[in-house]
Amino acid sequence: MTTAALPVQHAVEVNAVSRVFAGRKGASVTALDAVSLTVAPGEFVSLIGPSGCGKSTLLRLIADLDTPTDGSIEVFGKSARQARIDQDYGIAFQQAGLLPWRTVTGNIELPLELHGTGKAARRDRAAELIELVGLSDFAGHYPDQLSGGMQQRVAIARSLAESPSLLLMDEPFGALDEMTRERMQNELVRICAETSAAVVFVTHSIPEAVFLSNRVVVMSPRPGRIRDVLSVNLGRMSDRGENLREDEDFFHSVSQVRELLHGATPTGARGVETR
Ligand SMILES: Nc1ncnc2c1ncn2[C@@H]1O[C@H](COP(=O)(O)OP(=O)(O)OP(=O)(O)O)[C@@H](O)[C@H]1O
Ligand SMILES: [Mg+2]
Repeated sequence: MTTAALPVQHAVEVNAVSRVFAGRKGASVTALDAVSLTVAPGEFVSLIGPSGCGKSTLLRLIADLDTPTDGSIEVFGKSARQARIDQDYGIAFQQAGLLPWRTVTGNIELPLELHGTGKAARRDRAAELIELVGLSDFAGHYPDQLSGGMQQRVAIARSLAESPSLLLMDEPFGALDEMTRERMQNELVRICAETSAAVVFVTHSIPEAVFLSNRVVVMSPRPGRIRDVLSVNLGRMSDRGENLREDEDFFHSVSQVRELLHGATPTGARGVETR
């Protein structure tokens, strides 16, 4: 029996993508300039970089909410457009974006409803997700009866409703206090370990990027480019817990990312790829 080598199937493949926005009076902004990046299935990749370096632009392009000026994007080997039609990914952004007139269950069911899933199946799936994000006692509550962190958990549950193999998250914890944020990070790590979803995660927080990621992509502005990619060697997702935050390797990775962000070459850098 011969085994033909299968082509590597990336969760995301961004190939020499540029995005130029036309400005007023003919001035244009190069939000992204020839950016290339691949994300493996099940891999957690964070994008970090100063404001305006093109993180959200890149995420929106992957989500097919915008189209590149140049270059190409594939999601699970398909065009970004096809992946959107096939609902291959879930999205969670900074604002939870819940519908105030729908309960927790109703909000989580929404994507399933829009795509024609039957009522009983919707209820079952919503109940499962509500348990996953620890909101079982709040299934019938409305968004304004929940804290910011709880609303964000509903948004994450909603993004997982259709069991996407890819999650696109743009500063989903940006509005949360530090304690809630760390709790949400712990939960996200657990959810990722349980669902094996690949994640592209935008954040401004270095410790958050390190804690969550397999790789941290450091970007630089004007024009938006990938400056460095740091592999975070802190073990498997399923083994990452609260103790990791006090770990020496964790601090080491945090200072590596910080140095990369500030443009210095880290001394004794381990696992650093430079592009
Ligand atoms: N729709 C648009 N029209 C014109 N310019 C845009 C548009 N969207 C983004 N830009 C510009 O592209 C650049 C990158 O913006 P983007 O929102 O991707 O940055 P970001 O890295 O997400 O920043 P932040 O960390 O502040 O969210 C910025 O200079 C921004 O002004
Ligand atoms: Mg942004």
